[in-house]
Amino acid sequence: MISARDVELRAGARLLLDSATFQVAAGDKVGLVGRNGAGKTTLARVLAGEGQPAAGQVATGGSVGYLPQDTMVGDLEALALDRILSARGLDSLLAGLREAEMQMADPNPARRDAGVRRYGHLEERLTVLGGYAAESEAASLAASLGLPQKVLKQPLRTLSGGQRRRIELARILFGGSDTLLLDEPTNHLDADSVSWLRDHLRAFRGGLVVISHDTSLLDVVVNRVFHLDADRSVLDIYNLGWQAYLDQRETDARRRRRERLNAERQAVALQSQADKMRAKATKAKAAQNMQKRAERLLAGVSADRAAERVAKLRFPVPAHCGKTPLSAQRLSKSYGSLEVFTDVDVAVDRGARVVVLGLNGAGKTTLLRLLAGVEDPDTGEVLGGHGLRLGYYAQEHETLDNSRTVLENMRSAAPDMAESEHRKILGSFLFSGDDVAKPTGVLSGGEKTRLALALLVVSGANVLLLDEPTNNLDPGSRAEILAALHNYQGAIVLVTHDEGAVDALQPERVVLLPDGVEDAWSEELADLVALA
Ligand SMILES: Nc1ncnc2c1ncn2[C@@H]1O[C@H](COP(=O)(O)OP(=O)(O)OP(=O)(O)O)[C@@H](O)[C@H]1O
Ligand SMILES: [Mg+2]
Repeated sequence: MISARDVELRAGARLLLDSATFQVAAGDKVGLVGRNGAGKTTLARVLAGEGQPAAGQVATGGSVGYLPQDTMVGDLEALALDRILSARGLDSLLAGLREAEMQMADPNPARRDAGVRRYGHLEERLTVLGGYAAESEAASLAASLGLPQKVLKQPLRTLSGGQRRRIELARILFGGSDTLLLDEPTNHLDADSVSWLRDHLRAFRGGLVVISHDTSLLDVVVNRVFHLDADRSVLDIYNLGWQAYLDQRETDARRRRRERLNAERQAVALQSQADKMRAKATKAKAAQNMQKRAERLLAGVSADRAAERVAKLRFPVPAHCGKTPLSAQRLSKSYGSLEVFTDVDVAVDRGARVVVLGLNGAGKTTLLRLLAGVEDPDTGEVLGGHGLRLGYYAQEHETLDNSRTVLENMRSAAPDMAESEHRKILGSFLFSGDDVAKPTGVLSGGEKTRLALALLVVSGANVLLLDEPTNNLDPGSRAEILAALHNYQGAIVLVTHDEGAVDALQPERVVLLPDGVEDAWSEELADLVALA
């Protein structure tokens, strides 16, 4: 159970949330929604006790399991399975058992006896905590989230960003907390895992706060909706399921629109009246008051107006290049004993649209990293054609320099461009005024996605390598970005679980992993997108 009283949130000088009071009890399934940068992650952090509110209190009863939006970087040498087990403190027990086992082989009898005693002691504790069954429970949770057995034996360092996130999700679910706080849990999940998660969360008996742009999940899981309205800095609480919430919000929005129009009309009337009266000295004071009232009315209205602001994106014409700007031959990659793929050939023609499909862990991200040159293949080579300019959008935003500001990132992506031009492009990606001075590290998930895409735009790239570019985006921004991609004249190589993204791209070719077969696109493959 979590209860929040008069909680106020700020980010720097900006007010995100003005005094919210609510409770999340067992059985409450809350969908926390709002547009990118509204403050959802900030609120979740505060509820999880990882951040302090600017004012007000948060009290927690029972245990809370928190999945942050950004992958947590724990000890990267730890084995994936141990990471999951750590949620119940089992990892240290098992490590202790392994140590005690070694001690039991010690030639020194005293140490050997100590080892035996320690082993017995630890094993007793292990039995109390659910023992060895827990290990197979963890493995089956992981399997449901698309993590095969062999991945669990690997150190986290060798896993892809998407796999690491699924390990974190498995860890939170395995922990068995009374209340779950999940920030974008479906990012990087394939359709089977999403549908498993849906059922799991629906059956969950505890309290839940889930932040998600995945309406199929919200529709089935939630029985309350908290809408964080970024324009009014208010948390609107609806004790309704998803569909009923949508209807109600539509009604509320219509009512506010009506009120706004009325206010505008009144303000205009007041203003013209004030103008007339100002001429007469005796009425100057009254005129001033009227003017003030008109301004107050309009101030209330302008906040709502900002809500209609959506990015209008257009990718510029890419730099000229040869017929086949990018190709690769006989690419192979392994991590340790795990062979990701072998002998993959790819050819990307000017303006081509290629989709990379493959099950989780089939190496889609790895292939993009090889093509982008951020990682070397074990065999084979990547060949840049005449005039190639690559733009790489990484799943985990690792192309962004978090220590620099938004504007500085822009400057290093396009050093020859004037600052006014930088600001203009950032503006069309919804970074206005003070936003450009923010350190990139504090940006919200959706804001980072927008910035990374803006950097691609200024680079004049003629081949874009895009790894899950629609994750984290609110529906408005997502539609804009898909439309811009649709009209973009350069070539695109896309990795995604988002069927809408594939629709927008209208691909001609597909690369199927791990076999590396390149083929013409056909509509039957569309069904594979969400599954892959
Ligand atoms: N230290 C800071 N200084 C200035 N702004 C900040 C700071 N920390 C966070 N912000 C801003 O606060 C806002 C809220 O961020 P938050 O991550 O909570 O948004 P969100 O609703 O989770 O968005 P998304 O849907 O994109 O994940 C963002 O605009 C972010 O840039
Ligand atoms: Mg967020």
